[in-house]
Amino acid sequence: MDMSSGWSIYIIVLVAAHIVGYLWLLFTSSRMQSDEHKDGDTTGHVWDDDLKEYNNPLPKWWLYLFILTIVFSIGYLTLYPGMGNYKGTLNWTSFSSWEDENKDVMAKRAELFSTFINKPVTEMVKDTKAMEIGERLFANHCSTCHGSDAQGAVGFPNLTDNDWLYGGDPDTIIQSITAGRNGIMPPWGAALGDEGVKQVAAYVKSFTDKSQNVELAAEGQKKFAMFCSSCHGADAKGNYMFGAPNLTDNTWLHSYDSGIVETAIMQGLSGKMPAHGELLDKDSIKVLGAYVYSLSND
Ligand code: HEC
Ligand code: HEC
Repeated sequence: MDMSSGWSIYIIVLVAAHIVGYLWLLFTSSRMQSDEHKDGDTTGHVWDDDLKEYNNPLPKWWLYLFILTIVFSIGYLTLYPGMGNYKGTLNWTSFSSWEDENKDVMAKRAELFSTFINKPVTEMVKDTKAMEIGERLFANHCSTCHGSDAQGAVGFPNLTDNDWLYGGDPDTIIQSITAGRNGIMPPWGAALGDEGVKQVAAYVKSFTDKSQNVELAAEGQKKFAMFCSSCHGADAKGNYMFGAPNLTDNTWLHSYDSGIVETAIMQGLSGKMPAHGELLDKDSIKVLGAYVYSLSND
């Protein structure tokens, strides 16, 4: 960012005055020494009777080094920014330096990506390089929620099985990553009442748990048709359109511990997958999509 011209002038004067000042100091002190003093002269200061202060000229190597640093500073301030708002003949900025490095990295990446990025996802999954990159991207951007093994956790879907909330074809996976998802299941406690919740829960559980009370489940089935089938489907096998899970299998997005199904029905549920379209470029998302696709398709 440019500073105001007042500050700029102040800094230029300060820097220039320092350089001129050093030169002057160097010049006068070396003249003084060579004109008036010889090697071995003392300043006249004496301590403890015999401790004298010599006034020898500066060693030559030291003098040259000093001059060299001044020459260096002038060269540096010509090439690089340092004199107020003057940008230096190289036009260097820390940002342009970062930009150049970044350009190199992006060029190398584009070269690497070019070997597979135009393949369809179903072909890209056979490219080990692409899958390695996908795995790394996944570790960086997705594993906090879906786990480093992509097997998910309570509320975060397992991406390695073939059980999908929104669909497991390449385009849908890429859409899930790009735009995000927000599955909402409204609360049903008020509409169903305690007894109704128990009945519907018994019905939902009866698909995988044969110990459920048959009459309770039969009552539940009727209520399910009224309240739940619009999202979960008449057969309770779910609906990709709403991200409503299949309730007939033993894969649970939330959990099947005692009471969880009842609580879920009573209080509702929601899951949010953040959109990554702004965070990641299209190519990275495609590689990620291919990686996720590969986890459940050999
Ligand atoms: C902040 C947590 C979070 C992060 C980070 C996250 N996800 Fe998700 N993801 C979720 C949740 C929660 C869902 C389920 C959304 C729902 O319930 O509707 C989900 C759903 C998905 C789905 C849809 C699954 C299905 O069954 O249809 C895919 C695919 C997916 N995520 C991939 C990714 C990828 C790839 C990344 C990394 C770029 C990622 N997610 C990062 C939380 C996250
Ligand atoms: C508006 C659509 C909608 C309706 C209506 C609906 N659900 Fe859901 N349900 C969902 C969604 C979406 C999820 C997944 C929530 C998430 O993404 O976390 C879900 C999740 C569930 C789960 C958890 C499944 C799991 O794998 O953990 C159960 C159980 C469930 N619903 C039962 C019901 C029952 C019973 C009814 C009727 C009383 C019902 N749902 C009505 C949309 C709906």
